[in-house]
Amino acid sequence: MEAPSLLNPPRVLLLIVLCVGIVSLTEAAKVRRYKWEVKYEFKAPDCFRKLAISINGRTPGPTILAHQGDTIIVELKNSLLTENVAIHWHGIRQIGTPWSDGTEGVTQCPILPGETFIYKFVVDRPGTYLYHAHYGMQREAGLYGSIQVSVPNGTKEPFSYDYDRSLVLTDWYHKSTYEQATGLSSIPFVWVGEPQSLLIQGKGRFNCSLLASPSLAPGTCNTSLPECSPFVLTVVPGKTYRLRVASLASLSAFNFEIEGHNMTVVEADGHNVEPFVIKNLNIYSGETYSVLVKADQDPSRNYWMGLNVVSRKPATPTGLAIFNYYPNHPRRMPTTPTPVGPLWNDSEYRLAQSLAIKARQGYIHPPPLTSHRQIILLNTQNSINGFRRWSVNNVSFTLPHTPYLIALNQNLKHPFDPIAPPDTYDYVNYDIFKLQDNPNATSSNSIYRLKFNSTVDIVLQNANTMVANNSETHPWHLHGHDFWVLGYGKGKFDPINDPKKYNLVDPIMKNTVPVHPYGWTALRFKADNPGVWAFHCHIEAHFYMGMGVVFEEGIEKVGKLPLSIMGCGASKGSHNP
Ligand code: C2O
Ligand code: CU
Repeated sequence: MEAPSLLNPPRVLLLIVLCVGIVSLTEAAKVRRYKWEVKYEFKAPDCFRKLAISINGRTPGPTILAHQGDTIIVELKNSLLTENVAIHWHGIRQIGTPWSDGTEGVTQCPILPGETFIYKFVVDRPGTYLYHAHYGMQREAGLYGSIQVSVPNGTKEPFSYDYDRSLVLTDWYHKSTYEQATGLSSIPFVWVGEPQSLLIQGKGRFNCSLLASPSLAPGTCNTSLPECSPFVLTVVPGKTYRLRVASLASLSAFNFEIEGHNMTVVEADGHNVEPFVIKNLNIYSGETYSVLVKADQDPSRNYWMGLNVVSRKPATPTGLAIFNYYPNHPRRMPTTPTPVGPLWNDSEYRLAQSLAIKARQGYIHPPPLTSHRQIILLNTQNSINGFRRWSVNNVSFTLPHTPYLIALNQNLKHPFDPIAPPDTYDYVNYDIFKLQDNPNATSSNSIYRLKFNSTVDIVLQNANTMVANNSETHPWHLHGHDFWVLGYGKGKFDPINDPKKYNLVDPIMKNTVPVHPYGWTALRFKADNPGVWAFHCHIEAHFYMGMGVVFEEGIEKVGKLPLSIMGCGASKGSHNP
């Protein structure tokens, strides 16, 4: 018999391998600390001076640059004086840290004025992500930014480029978020209307001469402010750029293009895409794409980057930025016509681009071939007690006073409606093309409880709104997971036959996906992340008006919650135990 010894050669070898492994892991994974102060400031991103919410004086806020596996710690000081705040890390799954998701009412209490809150989480996958306010309609006041997670040093991506740049796209309103929110929850209903400007990386241009109003103080709108000069992307001829294009529009669906240049799509929401070449990119709020662009055109001049509204009848001028070939002057405006984009109401065109997005060969995560549960979500408008609402299966979502994560983890009594919302709607009799009134709609803060580790199919079913011949595009975003995009269809989803056409071979995984007008979109995900997760339309006004649901899974696996997320509703007593 062999003498038991810790130091026999194979064990020593194993020990060395383990140690080296641990050392290289700790070398690779860094802790990145940020100190952010959130406050109101006067800003004029489109030349019109108004209050915006800034981080350390900036909007968009600082870009978080990290490597896969890094831990991010953001120490957030709320200096908004009289307003709460919460920040969501959009696309980060928060595995093991569901309390850091930053979704007010779902995963945490709001951060009170004067308080400092610490978000801590791991960025476990490379790719392009976002952060933004997740409290009321605060996001559109300017509280947002981007997160770039690189592959670990020494790891190669399946595409190459010389430079890496971020472009966050937004739309911008001159009215305050409060004025908008008040209008949306008033009788008579006051719609937010179309945005005044489109911003590329926080810069746009409003035509101040449209505002000949004497009630405005001089200087309120001033096109000569350097702050609202167009964003400039300087490129070196012959080089290839990875542009991380992301949308945090509050309302608009966008089409983005660079005059005279093709773009190759290589990444979507943190997943490698089988490359495809486009002239312009349709991008919906909450989506991120990486496109490769080669500076291969006549370098003696500059080119436009243009942002146009699609899906809604545009009433906002094209957002413009400059694609500047070095060494031309960065402020030299192109003399060519500005990009006009595709026809705004060509949903076939947009559907075709959605269908072109497939997982990259060699990087396919195959989906489970079957699911345990199918939830069909009818997207409609309703009127409830005279208030205009958006609803899902005729239930309009409202947030409870006690965040679900706390209520469920602490077994608090009666914090929300325990009766589950419906898994489907009356798809046999319901006419999705008909002008809707849905008199039986209700509002509720009830949630879907999912079996831990089960596979869930979600079918988003679009329909006509309460306006004749109108169906809108809704970008749906899931917190805490990526889902497989199994299919898109036109008209009413057939629960028996349409699943037979699902793409189970090379579907892309995403966290945000559009449902096109009068169409459906089918998703599949694994309920394998213990916590409570929002799934909602990423249009700020739509979610505010009830267009969302919440999923719970594996709540019993969530350990002790940090006290810092508590202190509101029925969790008041828990704050200072
Ligand atoms: Cu980017 Cu719940 O949102
Ligand atoms: Cu919507």
